[in-house]
Amino acid sequence: ATEAKPYDVVVIGGGPGGYVAAIKAAQLGFKTACIDKRGPPGGTCLNVGCIPSKAMLNNSHIYHQTLHDTKERGIDVGDVKLNLPQMLAAKENSVTTLTSGIETYLFKKYGVDYLKGAAAFETANKINVALNEGGETQLDAKNVIIATGSEVTPFPGLEIDEERIVSSTGALSLKEVPKKLVVIGGGVIGLELGSVWARLGAEVTVVEFLGAIGGAGMDAEVAKTFQRSLQKQGFKFKLNTKVIGGERQGDSVKLKVDSAKGGKEEELEADVVLVAIGRRPYTTGLGLDKIGVEVDGKGRIVIDDQFNTSVPGVKCIGDATFGPMLAHKAEEEGIAAAEILKTGHGHVDYGAIPSVVYTHPEVAWVGKNEQELKADGVNFSVGKYPFAANSRAKTNQDQEGFVKFLTEKDTNTILGVHIIGPGAGELIAEGTLALSYKASAEDETLSEAVKEAALSTYDKPINF
Ligand code: FAD
Ligand code: NAI
Repeated sequence: ATEAKPYDVVVIGGGPGGYVAAIKAAQLGFKTACIDKRGPPGGTCLNVGCIPSKAMLNNSHIYHQTLHDTKERGIDVGDVKLNLPQMLAAKENSVTTLTSGIETYLFKKYGVDYLKGAAAFETANKINVALNEGGETQLDAKNVIIATGSEVTPFPGLEIDEERIVSSTGALSLKEVPKKLVVIGGGVIGLELGSVWARLGAEVTVVEFLGAIGGAGMDAEVAKTFQRSLQKQGFKFKLNTKVIGGERQGDSVKLKVDSAKGGKEEELEADVVLVAIGRRPYTTGLGLDKIGVEVDGKGRIVIDDQFNTSVPGVKCIGDATFGPMLAHKAEEEGIAAAEILKTGHGHVDYGAIPSVVYTHPEVAWVGKNEQELKADGVNFSVGKYPFAANSRAKTNQDQEGFVKFLTEKDTNTILGVHIIGPGAGELIAEGTLALSYKASAEDETLSEAVKEAALSTYDKPINF
């Protein structure tokens, strides 16, 4: 057998957590390898997540706006037709441009060795790689960073065939627009991908177990406004409803649903059912048992505040461990983990991780929401400013939504910023900065709607 290749750092997984950790480690002078069995780097996010979903969201929005929202603006358009194969090709093109950029440019520039294959622990310092092109290789690693990400949580009894019963992956590549799409789970994936197909012509029904949409973290008042807005766009919601069974019958899927409390059974028929009830850590085949890495009841790899697992020399970051399953969170952890290896210090501000839902209107937030502050017994002030009072939003005829500030009553320290409306995903950066610097509402000076909402927590707004 050939000698195992020696590395300072071996990163398992080439997603936003893994590829960023590998580049940072290499920049810090470590001899670094990154392994991914998918082939192209970029993980879930670039290949079947953030990037393709944002491509479809952007282009479906342009299509929908061109169909329905041009006349009053003084734009007469002729026949507007959907060319779905081209829209899917544009999406694929965005994906490959970005993934090949990592592989052929960034990894080469910073000297990361990229291996395409499935990694498994032989020991804590020896990684076996079953190469995609055939054969095996072994790496010797002083330090290992696990960044193997997550996978779709399956729905018991509904087998995903990525054709009629799909996960987000199948929903990003449907060959035709379904007449009826039923989404199980009214969280981020359900609402983003539901929006894509609703805009392209599908009748979308969302079945959500809880009494509100948006998944964890969304402020209840924002969720209500969001739901009303999506209903205006044609979404149907079945809240407090559970799916109790279903099966594919030829080209359609029959689902049995019931109210969460029971006693209101009914049947739904759909051309396509999207299962979007969350994601779970993915560590299959990694050999965690073999070296004794501790995993919790939800399958998350247990780490301390320096990303150390229970096995010395092995760290874990991103979706495979605790915290929100977001690309920028995984990236921040990747950088911090590499810095800790070099200097012993590295930090992620878990209190200031923004969330964005890229629908129309956009929804974004950072920090605590109202229901969380109430549950924690915090004495807080609320400042709200509607986009309907904002000249630019009005002029653009895009005035749905509001900015909402939550501050600590005595000190006016910002505790949470919640935005639904135009540009929410960009505006939230200001809130994130404010939160990480523990700013008070008086410090807010930038964009107008944000400033007025901040002002409203301790004084009267000017334009509303
Ligand atoms: P991943 O990106 O999952 O990467 C892990 C990689 O490890 C995979 O490529 C896998 O092939 C590889 N791997 C696993 N096991 C092995 C092994 N044994 N050997 C070799 N390789 C292995 N987040 C956002 O912040 N913004 C968004 O807009 C957003 N949109 C999303 C849309 C969708 C449809 C989905 C599904 C997710 C979205 N996310 C978004 C979440 C985001 O994709 C994840 O949080 C992020 O990808 C996590 O990064 P990661 O590096 O931890 O894991
Ligand atoms: P999610 O956790 O956001 O939402 C799942 C929803 O399904 C919740 O509302 C939950 O109450 C509901 N649910 C759970 N079990 C159910 C059942 N049996 N029947 C009906 N409803 C049920 O998960 P989702 O949407 O699958 O997304 C997974 C993760 O991917 C997100 O948590 C997020 O971290 C990430 N993501 C981020 C995006 C972004 O940042 N823009 C976009 C897409 C995904």
